[in-house]
Amino acid sequence: MAKLIIVSNRLPVKLQEKDGQLSYQASEGGLATGLGSFYKKENNLWIGWPGQVVSEEDKQERIIDDLNKENMHPVFLTETEIKEFYEGFSNETLWPTFHYFSQYAVYSQQLWETYVKVNQKYCDEVVKQAGPEDTIWVHDYQLLLLPSMLREKLPDSTIGFFQHIPFPSYEVFRLLPWRKELLEGMLGSDLVGFHTYDDMRHFLSSVNRIVGYGSTHGWINTPTRSLLVDSFPMGIDYDKYAGTAALEEVKRRENVYRGNLNAEKVILSIDRLDYSKGIAQRLEAFEKFLEKYPEFQQKVTLLMLVVPSRDAVEKYKELKEEVDELVGRINGKYSRISWNPIQYFYRSYPLETLSAFYRMADVGLVTPMRDGMNLVCKEFVASKLDQKGVLILSEMAGASKELSDAILINPNDINQMVEALHQALTMPEEEQITHMRNMQTSLQRYNIHHWVSMFMDRLSYVKIKQLSLATS
Ligand code: G6P
Repeated sequence: MAKLIIVSNRLPVKLQEKDGQLSYQASEGGLATGLGSFYKKENNLWIGWPGQVVSEEDKQERIIDDLNKENMHPVFLTETEIKEFYEGFSNETLWPTFHYFSQYAVYSQQLWETYVKVNQKYCDEVVKQAGPEDTIWVHDYQLLLLPSMLREKLPDSTIGFFQHIPFPSYEVFRLLPWRKELLEGMLGSDLVGFHTYDDMRHFLSSVNRIVGYGSTHGWINTPTRSLLVDSFPMGIDYDKYAGTAALEEVKRRENVYRGNLNAEKVILSIDRLDYSKGIAQRLEAFEKFLEKYPEFQQKVTLLMLVVPSRDAVEKYKELKEEVDELVGRINGKYSRISWNPIQYFYRSYPLETLSAFYRMADVGLVTPMRDGMNLVCKEFVASKLDQKGVLILSEMAGASKELSDAILINPNDINQMVEALHQALTMPEEEQITHMRNMQTSLQRYNIHHWVSMFMDRLSYVKIKQLSLATS
């Protein structure tokens, strides 16, 4: 039976080791959370890195056995590969460039060569697992070269590629010394997907100007084949989030937290620690808000969860220090014995705790400088069973294209964020409910299942179209 093979840098689980005991914990980030509930269906499988260096062969064997039972196949990365492929080229070259932080980008031939080598390593594992009738779905910026590598080994296979982060405008993309090779890597796909129309347009423009292939209605004709480029805004597993928010245990936790938190109103912020998320700017806006609207002092608390991420990368270390310092400064300035303006947690939490936080928050504050989609804002909306609460969302997140019922802000405009906080905290209940209901209706319909089937249907359509083009 034909199967779907999902390939991403990271598996949806992370390996943990304590006193020689192996265990597996859910991975962070949009991709793992988004597709986590999907891949176990039928005989699908997921190929990716288990998140740790494992050098001993017998341990690798144990991990392979454990993961195979869950339809996963690990790709083991060495310490050097983690440094140069994952932390290096993926997160110090591509990530900053694609998020318009090109001043942070490192250009190193050594990192590039390891990126090529590791993409080849993923290719070898896919080729081991794939049959000719299978569909291969490659995800994200860590594996941009994989579609072409696979095409070379499996010329007739069905290959989809989806990019979860933004695709920058040509003027930014062209700064990369390996821009042509990266595009050619992606062009090995049959279908290339982005979250938004703008990302797709930027990609087509780079392909045109760098590789020289034009496009018509998203179709690119290379000298040997045709492929399609399109946008597919990713949804969430709506029922999972709404269902979790309805659990008695989650309601109980919410009551406990509310009781412990001495505040009439709660503003919630949840992100991985990342400069693209605008955490420092958000803190600055909250500080200005307390200054401009002192009547909210001792009444409103910012509950800020920052999930540790890529902490070996220099810019992330620096950001951690900046955030720690900002929180300390603001709390030092405004705290009372009975009230803290910011409750700051630097760790990850299980879904039930997050759900209790979503339930309890009056305002969801999601203000990235750039974000491919952002699923946290969607999870917040899905968890609001009483439909009360307000979402403040950055225009720079892909999700803002769908969630026009949120208060949309430009994260560079601190004063606008201050006013948005005031507007959100004073919004009449009926108005909150109207906006929340509209957003819920749309997210319920355009959920993760809808996203997967849209992408898969389009991929099948491309294969049929390619056949008819070849025979005409
Ligand atoms: C974003 C990326 C994912 C990545 C995730 C977590 O959501 O699009 O590809 O897996 O961040 O980052 P990490 O570096 O921990 O995998």
